[in-house]
Amino acid sequence: MSEDIAEQPAGFARLLETGPSTAIAEVAAEVARRAPRSVLFVGRGTSDHAALYAAYLAEIRLGLPVASASPSAITLYGARPDLTGTLVIGVSQSGGSPDLTGVLKVARETGALTLAVTNNPDSPLARAAELSIDVVAGHERAVAATKTYTAELLALLMLIEGVRAGDGHLPAEERAALEKLPQLAADVLADGSAAELAQRYRFAASLVATGRGYAYPTAREAALKLMETSYLPALAFSGADLLHGPLAMTDHDIPVLAVVGDGPGGRSMRDVVARLGERRVDVVTIGGSDVDGASARLAVPSVDERYAPLLDILPVQQLALALSLARGEDPDAPRGLKKVTTTL
Ligand code: F6R
Repeated sequence: MSEDIAEQPAGFARLLETGPSTAIAEVAAEVARRAPRSVLFVGRGTSDHAALYAAYLAEIRLGLPVASASPSAITLYGARPDLTGTLVIGVSQSGGSPDLTGVLKVARETGALTLAVTNNPDSPLARAAELSIDVVAGHERAVAATKTYTAELLALLMLIEGVRAGDGHLPAEERAALEKLPQLAADVLADGSAAELAQRYRFAASLVATGRGYAYPTAREAALKLMETSYLPALAFSGADLLHGPLAMTDHDIPVLAVVGDGPGGRSMRDVVARLGERRVDVVTIGGSDVDGASARLAVPSVDERYAPLLDILPVQQLALALSLARGEDPDAPRGLKKVTTTL
């Protein structure tokens, strides 16, 4: 897991190289040419969180209605929804789960433009889809997905910004900003504060993760990483949903990890942290600046809110790894899990 985490700056750089970025631009140009009216995502676990990030991008940057598919409607109940004019995107590092492949097969038959975003271009998912993007993350050794997650995020960002541009290519300014990501990621990973934080959470019995907008997928992924590597029951809520009920169960015994970046999502999260502060909750933020009411911060550089999820998750992955070790567990061999989970 530690090696996979460390490879992420190189993974970003690889995706931005001419070959992979041209392949993504070709797919983006074809999607723009076909002009879908809506987007349906399908993914599981970590890949579903990458899909959620892309859902925000597609809604905000492309102005398209977006939904997340329920695979069971198709694979268990035999539904065949009319998907004419819909772009259906399957996101999966392995491309190996039959339910995702089943959704893409039916979607292709029922009129959708189908696209697989995967780390395995020879997978059943990639073969089932009309279009395919290889996230070129390389072999991931650990069960817990880390480098494939951030590679999925960057590939989806390049896809959607390429569709927005129309010809598939990133505008020069966007490309220049993305080219800074490998160094920024290396800087974040060089900071050791996540390992210190692991000592603080060593005896925690549960945890809440929260974020808003583009940062909400990071909260979901943080909770999943902590559950699967450290067996720490962790709940994730959007900052808005947290205030609509779950806030009542928060107290000083349940630490909160809050993703508070810049932009509209981050500004809204400052109010959430203040509300948690009123309840004397121990809040640790992930972001570029200190937040009133928080007791500590995992520092990441301030970047455009769209890029922040690619960096914010890095110290969380390090935290999950360090916490697992601090609790006497083996992060490379989570109980009961395999690298590829096949669900029907
Ligand atoms: C978590 C993890 C899983 C997978 C999920 C989907 O670290 O690895 O949640 O993300 O099983 O797997 P793929 O992406 O292969 O479809």
